[in-house]
Amino acid sequence: MDYGYFDDDAKEYVITRPDTPLPWINYLGTEDYFGLISNTAGGCSFYRDPRLRRLTRYRYNNVPFDVGGRYIYLRDDQDGDYWSPSWQPVRRPLESYECRQGLSYTSIKAARNGVHAETLYFVPPGETLEVWRVQVRNDRDVRADISLFSSIEFCLWDAQDDATNFQRNFSTGEVEVLDSVIYHKTEYRERRNHFAYFACSELLAGFDTQRDTFLGPYRGWDAPEAVARGECFNSDAHGWAPIGSHHVRLSLESHETRQVVFVLGYAENPLDAKFDPPQSQIINKSQVRPVIERWTDPSNVDAALAALRSTWDEYLSVLRVSTPDEDTNRMVNIWNPYQCMTTFNLSRSMSSFESGIGRGMGFRDSSQDILGFASMIPSRARQRLLDLAATQLATGGANHQYQPLTKRGNAQIGSGFNDDPLWLIFAVSAYLKETGDLGLLDELVPYDNAEGSETPLYEHLGRCVRYTLERLGPHGLPLIGRADWNDCLNLNCFSENSGESFQTTENKEGVVAESVFIAGQFVVASRELVQIARALAKFDDATTLESNARRMVEAIERDGWDGDWFLRAYDYFGNVVGSRSNEEGRIFAEPQGMCVMAGVGVQDGRAARAMTSVRDLLATEHGVMLVQPSFTRYHLELGEISTYPPGYKENGSIFCHVNPWIMIGETMLGHGDAAFAYYRRTNPSARAVISDVHRCEPYVYAQTIAGRDAPTFGEAKNSWLTGSASWHFVAISQWILGIRPELNGLRIDPVLPESWPGFSATRQWRGATYEIVVRQPPGVTGRVGRLLVDDKPVEGNLVPEAPAGSVVRVEAEVATASSD
Ligand code: GLC
Ligand code: GLC
Repeated sequence: MDYGYFDDDAKEYVITRPDTPLPWINYLGTEDYFGLISNTAGGCSFYRDPRLRRLTRYRYNNVPFDVGGRYIYLRDDQDGDYWSPSWQPVRRPLESYECRQGLSYTSIKAARNGVHAETLYFVPPGETLEVWRVQVRNDRDVRADISLFSSIEFCLWDAQDDATNFQRNFSTGEVEVLDSVIYHKTEYRERRNHFAYFACSELLAGFDTQRDTFLGPYRGWDAPEAVARGECFNSDAHGWAPIGSHHVRLSLESHETRQVVFVLGYAENPLDAKFDPPQSQIINKSQVRPVIERWTDPSNVDAALAALRSTWDEYLSVLRVSTPDEDTNRMVNIWNPYQCMTTFNLSRSMSSFESGIGRGMGFRDSSQDILGFASMIPSRARQRLLDLAATQLATGGANHQYQPLTKRGNAQIGSGFNDDPLWLIFAVSAYLKETGDLGLLDELVPYDNAEGSETPLYEHLGRCVRYTLERLGPHGLPLIGRADWNDCLNLNCFSENSGESFQTTENKEGVVAESVFIAGQFVVASRELVQIARALAKFDDATTLESNARRMVEAIERDGWDGDWFLRAYDYFGNVVGSRSNEEGRIFAEPQGMCVMAGVGVQDGRAARAMTSVRDLLATEHGVMLVQPSFTRYHLELGEISTYPPGYKENGSIFCHVNPWIMIGETMLGHGDAAFAYYRRTNPSARAVISDVHRCEPYVYAQTIAGRDAPTFGEAKNSWLTGSASWHFVAISQWILGIRPELNGLRIDPVLPESWPGFSATRQWRGATYEIVVRQPPGVTGRVGRLLVDDKPVEGNLVPEAPAGSVVRVEAEVATASSD
């Protein structure tokens, strides 16, 4: 089945039928105000924190799946026929339908009975509001009398409380209606100084703010009574469920088009200026009035959309590539960086699969998100690094999560995920390589936000490493703690009670279970820190770090190798996990990727053997599975991993996050064909042709694709918010195409498929522009053998940093590696 196509010139994915296998969503907003929007206008909005500042309500796990959104209803007042120009929620047949998912905007258009409507949704840059511009056109030969209704359902701010505390919340809702604006002011009288508003550019024929009045008894969003009868009730919500609906009457001459603009926004007032008059309980609207006036004026919409587009053009200009593979070009030039922005902003908080309630910003997740984002807006990456480091504990450990509104560590979850702190080194290093801003390392940053505990950021990184070294197990490998990157490998939680959390219930002393994955990760992180220490002329530190890393490599070689691949772990009893001696779970992908990235066994052939084992035992046509054979029984001593049915999630799905590690590993061995073949298998654009199998959006990575052991092999889940975004971007841009910023130059180290004649790219780096052409003569595969920088030959493959503002011409030619 065909659901749509890519329009690369417009940087859009065009959905051509509304009944996609799952809602195919997009995000509005890039700074403080965000919205989730599906191809049928489902979704909701929030200001900064999707739990504590939720503007509108969305019903997760509903039937149909996608309920609650930014719905427009059109009604033909001549015959009473009504429909949704986004198909949902009315779902009356449409004569045409098209949704364009663009970069931070969505437009949905549809026609029925000669009435055409197109709605554009976006957040103007710098604003805390969203604009909906509806254009209604009468394609009939005669006049059309059309009623247009807007609708949203307000969330009473705290999404958790909103979804559970009905005994209170059915009695708290309050609104004000003035002119064409509906203000949502629940709890504004007391402790809140924020409110939402929903404005319309037109004079209203009516409005509703009480949900059940608008819908009518026993009716749903598919058939609101107000819409059916063609007139709102002018209801004023007191308690129950406040909504916003405007009714506008349009009398359209034949072929006439009218624009109506709706604005949904978030506003705050100073505590001492909440009310007007001051003694009243009426919202002071003096600040928000000009904002509403500006954005309900249709003439401002086009300019704001153009500004949004040019912001995105600028973000995307950091790296432009032209390769022989269209799916690569499309993902690298448009969608992969777009997804990286989204994961940077939202971590794992809110998507179709994340409710925005449960998870804050993950330390590990946010650190890795920076790897794909640092090049786009380095200043924001810098601030994030400082925020993350400020939640680090004095022990060097990390709060596993923090809340975006307070930026404080989340005490309920605490720490003890022993991979967490090391990711901070990866992230800081990526930022430093991008910017050269070593001054970041001098910034004074507290631990666990405690005043007086500040040290330079450099010291934080040292403590990350020390945290591992102070927690080594019997084999000299790092103790795993609650879990490492694999949240579901819970070697110190023997849980027999279904109510328990696998991650936070530790009922075993964590002094034996060790992680080979963290060992590899430690080596990578230490080597990054060595380079940083050298750049600061801290040569003693560099020497110590280097020798720690070497000792860890020895431990991996000695006790982390299983014969044909790297082991995964030692469990609580000291037994091996991820070994040929296991019945299930014999080989895991993560340690293969991470240990080869650490360079372990690259010289002596073990790395190549590990990659061969991955190919033979874990690779499928949909990507590399996390573990094989998947666990068929519950293993008390392994934890959550064995709770998933075989082939799902951590239990043997194609966990997309890990696939790029394998790709990078292959490039380290010079295997361009293998690396790129893996890259194409998970590439969402390349998978668009199998949307009926894949089912998630074809323009973004998903966390997981069901593995071979699952009945739904190839089906993706948990799209959008996943470390797959950053890591795929790193793998393709820095390792396969090989354009890799380093502290003192731009490395050009492509490892390409043999059939490619080469590629070209433009990279903005530290203010200069590098025009790069890579040629690979027929029959040749290997690394760069000849490098010209502005026509002059350069030894090796490192392009020196050029002055800001300059344009540098880089020509690289691949040569067959000599076999010495
Ligand atoms: C999820 C989590 C991430 C974890 C991964 C593997 O993607 O967000 O932190 O590393 O699952 O368990
Ligand atoms: C990660 C894993 C998921 C697990 C969860 C626990 O997100 O992907 O499988 O259930 O962590 O917090």
